[in-house]
Amino acid sequence: MINITEINQAVATLRAGGLVAFPTETVYGLGADAKNVEAVRQVFLAKRRPADHPLIVHIESSKELKDWAEHIPPAALILAEAFWPGPLTMVFAKQAHVLDEVTAGQPTVALRVPNHPVALSLLKAFGGGLVAPSANQFTHISPTTAEAVHEELAGAVDMILDGGACQVGVESTIVDMSGDLPVILRPGMISSADIACVLDMTVLTAQQVNSKMRVPGQHLVHYAPTTKTRMMSQEALLAYIENTESTFAVMAYSNALLALDDPRVHAMPVNAKAYAHDLYHTLRALDHLDVQEIVLEAVPLASEWDAIRDRLTKASGE
Ligand code: TXA
Ligand code: MG
Repeated sequence: MINITEINQAVATLRAGGLVAFPTETVYGLGADAKNVEAVRQVFLAKRRPADHPLIVHIESSKELKDWAEHIPPAALILAEAFWPGPLTMVFAKQAHVLDEVTAGQPTVALRVPNHPVALSLLKAFGGGLVAPSANQFTHISPTTAEAVHEELAGAVDMILDGGACQVGVESTIVDMSGDLPVILRPGMISSADIACVLDMTVLTAQQVNSKMRVPGQHLVHYAPTTKTRMMSQEALLAYIENTESTFAVMAYSNALLALDDPRVHAMPVNAKAYAHDLYHTLRALDHLDVQEIVLEAVPLASEWDAIRDRLTKASGE
């Protein structure tokens, strides 16, 4: 899977201030040298992302935390040990050298060690931090394949490393470690219960904290298909399918809906991990169908579904 020639070419591109999209276990990232202000500005331009949305700095291992974080609380080291490399991003007080363009002028920096062989060999060969927002246009669905990156950013990126389909499928959990208690800023497949269990500490959600910090996905519509998208309970969906005249596609997982054997109903896995893996790929495919509406079946309330529920809510603007 790792092509050394390609990695070397990617490193040369990054050192020259270019943009390289690369796979991670969550979604594909749009990579640039986190210490090169011009390269970081190019990332915002390529994504048409507003400058007030800070970027995550990707590092090769927790040893590099000390190069970016001003203060590393013991709990963060425990989380790093438990979950890195993996789909967890931690927010710390930043060191003075960290570019304002990266942090959107905030006093904190977000750091993550991704768990993908291509990302890790790229970081190792590059020998420094890489900013990498999801490799999509601002407000679009995050890409989980190299083809999806091409769709989003062809012409705006110098190179795309193909590492196949992303294993996790939704963006990392973001936890703010800069205060007294950890605060979940964005749910991901590492749940707040997973974090609380490892730390033996209370973990707060952003809603519980009267935080002045920038909360990711604060825009009402985020991660959204271009087709009008709604979310409904199984019951409401059964009635909708029966009575609706317009063209539509349904994303469902429950037996009652799948049993209809209706070609407009697209089957999703009943298991949260497998559902997350398929989520963006399926949404993107439905968005290409040219139907008038996409309807998402609401998912269970259990905490393992938190990240998925969050993304479906944002996709449907509900
Ligand atoms: O899984 C992921 O995290 C992917 C892969 C490529 O690593 N990256 C990703 O990046 O989702 P992006 O830029 O699409 O989302 C990063 C989120 C943004 O919503 C931003 O607001 C938040 O991280 N963020 C970055 N720095 C922050 C900081 N200092 N404080 C609070 N939130 C921060
Ligand atoms: Mg994103």
